[in-house]
Amino acid sequence: MTTRATRKHDPEAWRLRFPILETCTYLVNHSLGAMPRSVVDKLRHYHEQWAMRGVRAWAEGWWEAPVTIGDLVGRIVNAPEGTVVMHQNVSLIQSIVASALDFSTRRNKVVYSSLHFPTCMYVWEAQKRRGARISMVASPDGITVPTELMCAAIDEETLIVPISHVLYKSSYKQDVEAIVARAHEVGALVLLDCYQSTGTVPIDVQALGVDMICGGSVKWLCGGPGAAFLYTRPELLETLEPSITGWAAHADPFAFELGEQRYAQGPWRMLHGSPAVVALYAASAGHETILEVGVEAIRAWSIRLTEELRADLSDRGFRVTSPADPERRGGTLTVGLAEDEDGPAFVKALEQESILVDHRPDAGIRVSPHFYTRRSELAEFAEVLSALRASGKWKDFVDRAGVY
Ligand SMILES: Cc1ncc(COP(=O)(O)O)c(C=O)c1O
Repeated sequence: MTTRATRKHDPEAWRLRFPILETCTYLVNHSLGAMPRSVVDKLRHYHEQWAMRGVRAWAEGWWEAPVTIGDLVGRIVNAPEGTVVMHQNVSLIQSIVASALDFSTRRNKVVYSSLHFPTCMYVWEAQKRRGARISMVASPDGITVPTELMCAAIDEETLIVPISHVLYKSSYKQDVEAIVARAHEVGALVLLDCYQSTGTVPIDVQALGVDMICGGSVKWLCGGPGAAFLYTRPELLETLEPSITGWAAHADPFAFELGEQRYAQGPWRMLHGSPAVVALYAASAGHETILEVGVEAIRAWSIRLTEELRADLSDRGFRVTSPADPERRGGTLTVGLAEDEDGPAFVKALEQESILVDHRPDAGIRVSPHFYTRRSELAEFAEVLSALRASGKWKDFVDRAGVY
């Protein structure tokens, strides 16, 4: 698909900013996005602040970093200022949200799908001890979660629907509008995990009307670990009182009041203790880069590249397991293998050729171009993959898989 946006987009204009691209074909952006050079400037600033400003650094950006950098991420997802805060990871965010909910009434059902990222399941399953009932919607094919099944599971007893925007395994993009509409019809909340969409699929939290979204900076945001974000709809924000809390969530933290929490107004109330400033600073380099490129342009380029790759792989006899309709998938393409082929061995064999991808059971090899990917790199990937299949050379790498 060639559109005005893709004709104008030039990956060469961005490549020099990412050192790793000089060394390999980097197609694993759904796992860890490439590091922009500007991270070094951010870390230098952090270093100078700590080294030369000492304790004064808290008042010169450190204490407020979870909210100021939250606002930066907020611009990527069209969140109003003062609605996004930064935390260490999505698991913690899900726990904080859960800790603000009351499971002691009839409305205590949590609805998620069997293809949600497992860390989120662990958090919600743990809420059974607090009275939560879990309803897990099973995927019929391991790739999709039909909207009708999700909507049918959401009823008047549903408290919250924690789901993924784009599924990590198959890249299937859920019909969020329909799920939010159903949830709101019966008075339930939706917590949308946008880890696999933020930075590659345009998101407008206000247009979606979603209650909360979360995600991290590790993948498509090119921001590295330790900088996850939580958006809360403004009217909802004022009502939440998480029991996972701390002095950063207090209305007057430096008054050191005794006793019970007195929650701050606005995004601060979703925080707890001192922020991991260094990770937030580093991540802001990625956030700024994504804003500069623009998610609309990234998406157009991504669709063009993944469509070309899908056609190429199909011609070569590979089965692409992610949805064929680009509107129904995120930035990743998943390539199915035959039963007697070993996915992790293929990944290792590709790594030997300096092509970085990964593999997930059931879905297959995950391949993710980003705005800095050349069309020729995907052609090269398809060529090498075919050659590995034809030669059987991947067998040399069985049991040599790594951890990513
Ligand atoms: C959809 C999704 N949610 C969550 C995570 C990870 O959560 P955490 O930030 O807790 O490591 C991932 C991937 O690492 C993911 O793909």
